[in-house]
Amino acid sequence: MYLGLDLGTSGLKGVVIDDKGNVLAQESASLSVSSPHATWSEQDPLSWWQACIDVIEQLQQRLDLSKLKALGLSGQMHGATLLDSQGDVLRPCILWNDGRSQAQCQALMAEFPDLIERSGNLAMPGFTAPKIRWVQENEPTVFEKLAFVLLPKDYLAYRLTGEMSSDCSDAAGTLWLNPQTRQWDNVLLAATGLTQANMPKVHEGCDLVGVLSEEVAQRLKLPQLPVVAGAGDNAAGAVGMGVTNPGQGFISLGTSGVYFTVSESHKANPENTVHAFCHALPNRWHQMGVTLSAANSLAWFSKLLGKTVPELLDGLEDSGLQRTSVLFLPYLSGERTPHNDPLANGQFVGLVNTTNVEAMTLAVLEGVAFSLLDCQNALDSAGSIADELSLIGGGARNAMWRQIIANVLNKRLIYRDGGDVGPGLGAARLALLGEQHGQGKDIERLIKEYCTMPEALEVHEPEEATRSYYQEKYALYQSLYQSTKDLNDKLALLSD
Ligand code: XUL
Repeated sequence: MYLGLDLGTSGLKGVVIDDKGNVLAQESASLSVSSPHATWSEQDPLSWWQACIDVIEQLQQRLDLSKLKALGLSGQMHGATLLDSQGDVLRPCILWNDGRSQAQCQALMAEFPDLIERSGNLAMPGFTAPKIRWVQENEPTVFEKLAFVLLPKDYLAYRLTGEMSSDCSDAAGTLWLNPQTRQWDNVLLAATGLTQANMPKVHEGCDLVGVLSEEVAQRLKLPQLPVVAGAGDNAAGAVGMGVTNPGQGFISLGTSGVYFTVSESHKANPENTVHAFCHALPNRWHQMGVTLSAANSLAWFSKLLGKTVPELLDGLEDSGLQRTSVLFLPYLSGERTPHNDPLANGQFVGLVNTTNVEAMTLAVLEGVAFSLLDCQNALDSAGSIADELSLIGGGARNAMWRQIIANVLNKRLIYRDGGDVGPGLGAARLALLGEQHGQGKDIERLIKEYCTMPEALEVHEPEEATRSYYQEKYALYQSLYQSTKDLNDKLALLSD
């Protein structure tokens, strides 16, 4: 048995698989985000650790975890977890959807013109390096005490094993990694006043990085399990869905929305705000378009109305509504692909006296689908496109939303078994690969055997009848952002 722990933004999930890779059980614990100012997004790393303990204890009640052979981690990317020389947390983690560091991104790109070439990516707020520059400028007493920077899942690995480690898929999202060599770049680190002494060692996702410390093993009633480096949640999702070879791709409908494709080499495309990172498996890379508020848009809207997401979706389904003149921009956390604009904000347009909740819910589903079409177009112009895509993430559980996305993207989408546990499954698979590779088995053979695509549960073909409706509405969606940008920038200045 192998355990995968996925540290998401809204919760931590644990997935246990058997020796053949079948899912045996999953459990989760929820997490909350705090936004002390507009564009800020933070979480307390100690709440991650508590959620990790809770999930393992819940799984203990269902399975005999003494049979576990290894543990793997996956997690929300880019978060800056700042530790002092004793390994204690210095401030709340600044998350992937935090937009405070726009000025720092611009300064870094102006001062270090080769930053884009070295990191293969644009400096965007949300990535780790500009956040450290922000702390340096705005919280100098914290920066003085800063001894180590860890990504969220790597903080959990540190608590579990006492070792500081990372993997190259997650590390690529810091802007301090050279994705071609898959190692830290000293020039990029120096740009934010850091050296390799501040960083964990970088591994491939399936490398063993340590074992559970005696104290933690005793507390969690587990054997002193080997722990593998794991992956950023998107690369882990790819491993879980068997998206391991060039030409394959998937869409994730989590808090964020991600359009992910695999490449055989590192293919930078910063001009289209494409994220070009390392895959979690050796000799593979990937590209992504990232929209910052996907399932989060629906969660936000349902919370405003005092309803649950399933209530909203059932209401829409019962109404039979297929089209609406309401248009929604999902930029509740700003936007990365394609605008790289942390001040972009959400909008409902086209409201009249007869507008009802169902029309607004449909507009939210469509707006997120349009933001994924923006990602598809960015990847298309980067020459990275897949013929069919798997769908993962909590939002992908809803068949109506999946069909809307297939129609908007004009792509065949496949919902697979385990789609809702994608990154956790990928983390468990990485644990399996690492443990078996440690016994001398060839890694490529293991990838072929265990990183397969789970069974297709439903295939969504694009429906031709909806084509012109979505084409026209997408053009309006695009022009809405452009024509209201100045107004929104001014509005953003009015908040705190
Ligand atoms: C990817 C990104 C998000 C987080 C969410 O660049 O910022 O997908 O990884 O967990």
